[in-house]
Amino acid sequence: MEPAAEHLNLHEDALPFIRSIITGPPQRPALGLVLGSGLSQLAEIMDDAVTIATSDIPGYPESTVEGHEGCLIFGMLEGMPVVFVQGRLHVYEGHSVEESTYPIRLLAGMGVQRLIVTNAAGGIHPDCVPGTLMWITDHIAFAFRRIPAGKSPSPRPSGADQTPYDAAWTESAKDLADSLGVATRSGTYLWTLGPSYETKAEIRMFAKMGADAVGMSTVPEVVVARTFGMRVLGLSTITNFAAGLGQETLDHQEVLQVGRQVRDDLQRLIVSIVRDISNV
Ligand code: HPA
Repeated sequence: MEPAAEHLNLHEDALPFIRSIITGPPQRPALGLVLGSGLSQLAEIMDDAVTIATSDIPGYPESTVEGHEGCLIFGMLEGMPVVFVQGRLHVYEGHSVEESTYPIRLLAGMGVQRLIVTNAAGGIHPDCVPGTLMWITDHIAFAFRRIPAGKSPSPRPSGADQTPYDAAWTESAKDLADSLGVATRSGTYLWTLGPSYETKAEIRMFAKMGADAVGMSTVPEVVVARTFGMRVLGLSTITNFAAGLGQETLDHQEVLQVGRQVRDDLQRLIVSIVRDISNV
């Protein structure tokens, strides 16, 4: 069941527009995948892909970051209807949290119940060296934004050890990675507003706070996805040592480059997760 239109807060023509282009099973995708920096080519694994430029979708905010070309790609993966979000919207670009989660609300409106969120992140934990794949098992929202932009507190995950990230799904995905020979670890992701990279002092503080990786995205999307009841799997590609832990300079090109290097492993992993999805 799709959420009520007033909770989605989408342009009234957005979903009808998508439904006018996407026909057949992908009109009701079972899974959404948000592609992080340098990972946009993952969309090549889909069959019968149909791409919609986000700039054509009514109400969709404009994206501005290199490596984040905006489009929604619908198709089939391992026989399952899926939608990939390419070109995420960051709060640091000047988008509100509400705007930056427009794609997630679109997915909710299409009935998506499972979301895989990928991103690029700086490694803080000593094991999080560049090229590491890290399952996000919890997060720290260090950008101090209201998510979602509602007035009342949204429900906290129930159960003492619950986080917004689906523990059973993450566990099984980790097992799949092991069986593919793809090394992964788990950790806590800390969201900073950006767009400047952190100072060394900030990274020392984040390490003490329990953060394993740091990045400028994901948290708003995950929180909003949870308010619509989606099950969420989070996966960071560690693209660099966080400030003060490795080489002295860092730029977006480097982040994109490492993203490209781990792409094959990630691709195999995503296919395997989708193939196994009915078991979790
Ligand atoms: N800090 C913040 N965001 C990032 C980083 C980082 O070191 N690497 C990739 N995204």
